[in-house]
Amino acid sequence: MKVLGIETTCDETAASVVIDGKQILSNVIATQIPMHTKYGGVIPELASREHSMKIIPVIDQALSEANTILSEIDLIAVANGPGLIGPLLIGLTTAKALSLSLQIPFVGVNHIKAHIYAAFMGNDSIKLPALGLIVSGGHTALVEIISPDEIYLISQTADDAIGEAFDKVAKNLGLPYPGGPHIEKLAKQGNPKAFSFSCGQVKKDPLMFSFSGLKTAVVYTLRDLEQSNKPIPKEDIAASFQHVAFNDLILKTKRALAKCNYKSILFGGGVTNSLKLREMFNESNFGIDLYWPERNLTLDNGAMIAGLGYQQYLTQGPDDFNLKPSPRIPFLKRNH
Ligand code: KG4
Ligand code: ZN
Repeated sequence: MKVLGIETTCDETAASVVIDGKQILSNVIATQIPMHTKYGGVIPELASREHSMKIIPVIDQALSEANTILSEIDLIAVANGPGLIGPLLIGLTTAKALSLSLQIPFVGVNHIKAHIYAAFMGNDSIKLPALGLIVSGGHTALVEIISPDEIYLISQTADDAIGEAFDKVAKNLGLPYPGGPHIEKLAKQGNPKAFSFSCGQVKKDPLMFSFSGLKTAVVYTLRDLEQSNKPIPKEDIAASFQHVAFNDLILKTKRALAKCNYKSILFGGGVTNSLKLREMFNESNFGIDLYWPERNLTLDNGAMIAGLGYQQYLTQGPDDFNLKPSPRIPFLKRNH
């Protein structure tokens, strides 16, 4: 089955053609980051306008790079949430219009679940059930993966998402948006033990995350150094913050593994772009296989949407035209 995947949840307009959920023929991503960097974050109205201008050229490019024409597409998969309402509407409306005019089915895909599906692409031998760690700009969660389209929440963040904390700390260090890659680069020259920051622990649930206290501690440290006119060791601050945040992910992943016998661990979301994160996890002796998305599939992209859309179509069939964009989609816990 040839699937066209469309992703417009935030600040990337993306389209991809994927065969049978695995074989990526094209993966085109038009990023809006340079436009939003000027404002220090994503401006939803500007994002919507940019998506509406880019969506058709990006789909055209994805088709031509895949050596395909529209009439050869069997299914349209579109991210219908979570994300920004305006950008979501543009992707979803485009998908519905294509589905109607081509007389082919379409499916709406949860883009956070698709981030995890990215780790399935190219890996045929993943043993299930698996533990999943989702680390993106809007989400931080541990999930239980029964199959690519059956995923349940174990725990999430009580406050900020980890990517959000990276972006806010970066802003305070004077680094551009999105901050994650800039912190990673700066941290390479710093000492991760220079500052003893710590992550929040949530009393009622030791598997939950909390990054807002860590973020505030970094901001206060910067303010105190500035006020006392001391030199600001930005590299050490970046390295210490990054080290503490990633160590907390490792700690909670280990706690989740101790509670239940998972056969592998899958990672998804923009923060998995970090080579430091991969290195720290890979060195942590989990005793089971770890699966990371290819680095071209870590940020928002259409291939993971096409991939999961295909799996979803096989198990649940198509969606109908009443499907709405969902800015928030709560993850469900499993009823044991
Ligand atoms: O998954 P994604 O593209 O968008 C959402 O669905 O949120 O994730 C974007 C997030 C941003 O917060 C960005 O700063 C973070 O991923 N990120 C990183 C790195 N690369 C991207 N965070 C830490 N280190 C990185 N190298
Ligand atoms: Zn995302």
